[in-house]
Amino acid sequence: MDPVYHIPALLNETIQGLAIKPDGVYVDVTFGGGGHSRAILTQMSAAGRNGSGKLYSFDQDADSLRNKIDDNRWHFVHSNFRYLSQWMDYYGEQQIDGLLADLGVSFHHFDEAERGFSFRFDGPLDMRMNQQAGRTAAEIVNTYDEEALARVLYIYGELKNSRAIARKLISARQQRPIDTTGRLAELLSGQKKELTCVFQALRIEVNDELGALREMLVTARDLLRPGGRIAILTYHSLEDRIVKNFLRAGNIEGTIEKDFYGNILTPFRLIEKGLSAGEEEVNRNPRARSAKLRVAEKIG
Ligand SMILES: C[S@@+](CC[C@H](N)C(=O)[O-])C[C@H]1O[C@@H](n2cnc3c(N)ncnc32)[C@H](O)[C@@H]1O
Repeated sequence: MDPVYHIPALLNETIQGLAIKPDGVYVDVTFGGGGHSRAILTQMSAAGRNGSGKLYSFDQDADSLRNKIDDNRWHFVHSNFRYLSQWMDYYGEQQIDGLLADLGVSFHHFDEAERGFSFRFDGPLDMRMNQQAGRTAAEIVNTYDEEALARVLYIYGELKNSRAIARKLISARQQRPIDTTGRLAELLSGQKKELTCVFQALRIEVNDELGALREMLVTARDLLRPGGRIAILTYHSLEDRIVKNFLRAGNIEGTIEKDFYGNILTPFRLIEKGLSAGEEEVNRNPRARSAKLRVAEKIG
């Protein structure tokens, strides 16, 4: 049997949060195994498979096309979601009724040794979600200077000893390049917490995850029609902070603007403020443990 591509977290809660209309235009910017996309289509089913509702599903990883959906309302966009604005222009969609982002990587990424996302296996130190573009984690580890490497580890891995780790990696690469997950894990002497943080930091840098998220959020805000909903699932504090501040303030800087009377001016009404998976879901799907759902509605 093929390994599971992905098990979606907080599936029912996310779909409920989107308050789907059968004839609406929806975007799932992180298609992955398609669990959320299928559920969106099911909710739109009142109008039948040939109804006027539409769902655009983005994924930058071509592997996700293995999960494609046979449905006339469904359109796959093989692209980074940072180009959401250009793609919606291309398809002539000026406004959308809802957008879902289930951030990060799928089980498929973690469970396939050759994608290089996990220290549980030995594989090439790659970590690119889009295998056709960008720098690999090995290129970063073997070419960044100490300052740049330490900064990535400190900011994206929240590692207090980032300088010491950067120094260790630079000294090791002088012997021979660090080009496998196994070698990187061995150099970090196998402490699980530290390994998790180093792998997370490299993954964020390789895929410019936070830059893409910021660009997509601004486009989503502008595309949503009044009453439209945005639902975001985050998996670590760095991305969650960005989403939380954005949905509260309506801008990337997180600056709260007020009117003359002191009322907060924001384009969003908060619906869900950081819902986590319950015990039953975590028992069934332990990787849902770190998921956090935030939902907001665009106001007129
Ligand atoms: C957590 S999985 C989504 C799982 C999906 N909700 C499901 O039900 O199977 C995240 C997916 O988003 C994709 N992804 C992450 N960042 C992306 C980006 N900036 N642009 C496009 N796709 C992205 C990854 O390749 C991965 O397949």
